[in-house]
Amino acid sequence: MYKSKLSLIFSITALLYAGCASRKGNSSDSEKGLKDYYRSYFPVGVAVGPKDLSGETASFIKTHFNSLTPENAMKMGVIHPSEKYYAWRDADSIVSFAQRNGLRVRGHNLCWHEQTAAWMFKDAEGKTVSKELLLQRLKEHIFSVVKRYEGKIYVWDVVNEAIDDDSTKFLRNSPWYQICGEDFIVKAFEYAHEADPKAKLFYNDYNTERPEKMERVFRLMKKLVDAKVPVHGVGLQAHWSIYEPSESELRNTISKFSSLGLEVQITELDMSVYPWEKERREKRPGESDVLTPELEQKQVEQYSKVFRIFRENWDKITSVTFWNISDQYTWLDTYPVPGRKNYPLLFDTNLKPKKAFWEVVNFKKK
Ligand code: GLA
Repeated sequence: MYKSKLSLIFSITALLYAGCASRKGNSSDSEKGLKDYYRSYFPVGVAVGPKDLSGETASFIKTHFNSLTPENAMKMGVIHPSEKYYAWRDADSIVSFAQRNGLRVRGHNLCWHEQTAAWMFKDAEGKTVSKELLLQRLKEHIFSVVKRYEGKIYVWDVVNEAIDDDSTKFLRNSPWYQICGEDFIVKAFEYAHEADPKAKLFYNDYNTERPEKMERVFRLMKKLVDAKVPVHGVGLQAHWSIYEPSESELRNTISKFSSLGLEVQITELDMSVYPWEKERREKRPGESDVLTPELEQKQVEQYSKVFRIFRENWDKITSVTFWNISDQYTWLDTYPVPGRKNYPLLFDTNLKPKKAFWEVVNFKKK
């Protein structure tokens, strides 16, 4: 219902837009950005830092994207580095750029085991905090951040990556878990909902298409939904590669989560040209980091496949966000192998559309 109304609004907007554009005689395809091809499907976003918001990249962003995620600026350790101090500047600049230019903002994120400042888990004597104090700090943090951007951030990644990497285990043995047990997850969602009752609240994780991980995330989500915790969606980070996920894995994941009545968003999309690895390591002698025609072709096919699946699931997927703008800079140039160049995005190192871009935008409209 919600989606069909939305799609009607989208279609009317698209028609009006097309009408205006052709009257002005400027409807040429060369001005069309990624977001315009997908206007009647879902918003298309990108993860950015404040430096991206001036000069050439700023207008590039405005052409291709209609949603922003702060890549780092809202992470707990960055925005709240010490107990009494919040570093708002970078996050504010991203939100005000979005406001000025009519872009949505996905808030990322409120509770994670990484990039959290050490003070959060220590009391005045340097001892591990009690559960009561930690939850009180979490509440204070969530209220400050969520309320500051109330009405300007439409969706929050509330809890990030709470499931263990070991497939035989359930929740990750993080400081949050060690001190609070499972309760920190429920509390984080409740605090966020109290702070901004209109914001959509998401659980966000990676490798969510691998069947063993999907089952564990599903188990967590079902528990939250059954307990009526205010959770509205699942973020599939989508740090994928030319080797995975398969078509059936991706389709299954989307339909499993939406069977719980949850929205699905693709939150951190990139398509590495190397197999997935997590542990940091040195570049091996002779290890190539050239984008060969074979690798590029595989990437074209993988992008084309996943976007076809996204389009077919437009009623379940409410946003698709890329993690970085172009192959000029990607976090995958340093992770997990420092100095190994990667090429995971739709635009090349000169901000020019790659073959994969054309493959993603040339489709028959629904
Ligand atoms: C995870 C986090 C992101 C980001 C990436 C790497 O996916 O959710 O915020 O740190 O790792 O850039």
